[in-house]
Amino acid sequence: MRKPILAGNWKMNKTAAEAVAFVREIRFALNQVEAADVVVCPPFVALVAVAEALQATKIGVGAQNMHWQENGAYTGEIAPTMLTPYCQYVILGHSERRAYFAETDDGVNRKAKAALKHGLTPIICVGESLEQNEAGETHSFVSGQVRAAFAGIPAEDVARSVVAYEPIWAIGTGKSASAADAGRIIGLTVRGTLAELYGEAAAQQVRIQYGGSVTPENIAEYMAQPDIDGALVGGASLKATFVELVKGAV
Ligand code: 13P
Repeated sequence: MRKPILAGNWKMNKTAAEAVAFVREIRFALNQVEAADVVVCPPFVALVAVAEALQATKIGVGAQNMHWQENGAYTGEIAPTMLTPYCQYVILGHSERRAYFAETDDGVNRKAKAALKHGLTPIICVGESLEQNEAGETHSFVSGQVRAAFAGIPAEDVARSVVAYEPIWAIGTGKSASAADAGRIIGLTVRGTLAELYGEAAAQQVRIQYGGSVTPENIAEYMAQPDIDGALVGGASLKATFVELVKGAV
């Protein structure tokens, strides 16, 4: 019912030239994947060139962040209308942005509304820290992040949104959440909270990814969980073996 979505978050990696060389290497193989949506999220300065290199393909392009205002005196920021010629997606509220760049739930909510207004699909990231996990606070914390991110977003926009559950302790650590745990938190906490907010039918339409040390070797285990609809992939999206990962998901 929900089409899987695999997105590569390149983070602060690859120059524009490296980005184009890389997508040229993988685009043919990725474009043959029919059963999933595939998205690459390069750094801002590579978006134009990557979008151009992927023009004749079904592969989507996403940004890694965005401001909620349309324009103005926000030095260093990028507006939604600057992204829409090149991107269909935008990652919002990644834990690295929350941790290192003081991004707040309120800011993520404003950005999500702005993305939806401009026809961009937000990939809204949520996830608990190791301390919260060990203290048994995962459900309440992640549920709170979902509520805050979707505050004021009307029901008709929910199905167009993607949520990525990325436990912070699993990001870049090689210590992935077990598929069963990820599936349970995504089903009960993330989708469960969306069901409380919008009803079960609407919640069933939202695609929810797992993120955190996903590899070509473990992707199938996550995809076997009924509530997991794909992955937000960091390190393993920077290499040509990302193709194997995507193929392993479908
Ligand atoms: P890794 O796949 O490198 O653990 O990163 C996950 C992530 O943060 C994707 O947004």
